[in-house]
Amino acid sequence: MASIAIVGTQWGDEGKGRITDLLARSMDFVVRFQGGDNAGHTVVLKDKEFKLHLIPSGIFYPQVGCIIGNGVVVNPGVLIDEIKELNSRGISTDNLKISCNAHLIMPYHILLDKAAESKLGKSKIGTTHKGIGPVYADKAARAGIRAQDLLDLKIFRTKLKEALKIKNSILTKVYGMDPLVPEEVFDQYCKYKEEIGKYIVDTSIVLNRALDANRKVLLEGAQGTMLDIDYGTYPFVTSSCTLASSAYIGAGIGPGRIDEVLGVAKAYTTRVGSGPFPTEEESEVGNFMREKGKEYGTTTGRARRCGWLDAMILGYSAMLNQLDSMVLTKLDVLTGLEEIKICTGYRYKGKVYRKLPSHQTILHKCEPLYETMPGWKNDLGNIRDFNDLPKPVKRYVERIEELVKVPVSMISVGPERDQIIIRDDSFKSQAFDLGFTAII
Ligand code: GDP
Ligand code: IMO
Ligand code: MG
Repeated sequence: MASIAIVGTQWGDEGKGRITDLLARSMDFVVRFQGGDNAGHTVVLKDKEFKLHLIPSGIFYPQVGCIIGNGVVVNPGVLIDEIKELNSRGISTDNLKISCNAHLIMPYHILLDKAAESKLGKSKIGTTHKGIGPVYADKAARAGIRAQDLLDLKIFRTKLKEALKIKNSILTKVYGMDPLVPEEVFDQYCKYKEEIGKYIVDTSIVLNRALDANRKVLLEGAQGTMLDIDYGTYPFVTSSCTLASSAYIGAGIGPGRIDEVLGVAKAYTTRVGSGPFPTEEESEVGNFMREKGKEYGTTTGRARRCGWLDAMILGYSAMLNQLDSMVLTKLDVLTGLEEIKICTGYRYKGKVYRKLPSHQTILHKCEPLYETMPGWKNDLGNIRDFNDLPKPVKRYVERIEELVKVPVSMISVGPERDQIIIRDDSFKSQAFDLGFTAII
């Protein structure tokens, strides 16, 4: 497999970073292709925890090139902090590259994101306040500022001045806020250029050359399928395409250059922010999942909403991403529950749906229909072979495969790199040796 795309199958936070880190060992490049620092990817290496927002989760291997692709929106200040934090903990960022075509998050994007949310009041999306919606809106409106603009400060100054004319009038006249001072923003971004200018190149050329030479590329998705701008629970979504298809555009590689699509699915469901969530458990079970699974946002610290696994959503994700297989994460979190439920349908106004209904009202108002299975009490954290799993666990995994019609190639039973059960031999060679070859 020369290239693998890893995508989230639910509402994000499925464990994409943890799985990317696992497979990155045998890769030449790891690429982020969409989203921005709204993402929070946690990687645990022995007793150390790393929270990545922009830097690909391949960074822990010094031999792996890490690319922030053109589809990503970059807040340079956040990126610089992340680089410094990694460097201070002994992780090199020498192999980082940023696409010259990636759009930059500017201070007004963040202000406008926050202001729009506060105007929405109770109907707010619950964004991460990172400026994601406004920066992607500017990209589509052809009013954005790109990483390459930092390399010619005359152009950068002109674009900034033009942008601020409009943004300042929105900030002051629509939202009653203070205007931004052009020279202050300019000076700030000149400092950013000093720090990150050296990383900015046409990364599509780097990647296509690598693929031509049979090098291995891993494409690391952010967010999840149900947060996709087209297919997610609009408008309670993010502003980028989160599907595997987006990896082609967001990395600059042609259709056909991805050999395998891996969907990461949490063994239950979580969501941060507003929007429909049919299997949400505002109950003891939900609290159990939140506390045991440490379901608090990596980026914002918000408590994640929790609920049962929804096979309707996984089926939709499997179709949209053309999943070759799934990785089931956080199965260990379910240990201790008397019974486990899987949602296999929705009922709305007397009608039963077995495929995701096309009208979103149904997602807001439906009654989830469950299959109930026995739970288990065993600690799963030290199990490395599928056959050693207790019977109810195996049955749960197999039932998910039957419902979603996609094989589960790996099962994660803890946050650490080696807490994984690999069922598909082709991944064994990628992930092993699970010894810590990284510089940790
Ligand atoms: P991402 O955004 O998809 O990369 O996921 P996050 O990093 O936001 O959230 C996943 C969280 O679960 C992180 O804190 C991981 O360390 C943790 N995690 C990942 N896999 C497992 C697992 O199998 N078991 C447990 N208990 N924790 C896990
Ligand atoms: P990772 O990559 C979970 C959610 C926000 C909000 C909605 C829109 O860690 O899985 P935005 O700031 O993107 O405009 O917010 O999307 N959201 C995420 N939820 N994980 C993420 O990323 C998310 N990125 C955005 O909570 O509901
Ligand atoms: Mg996350």
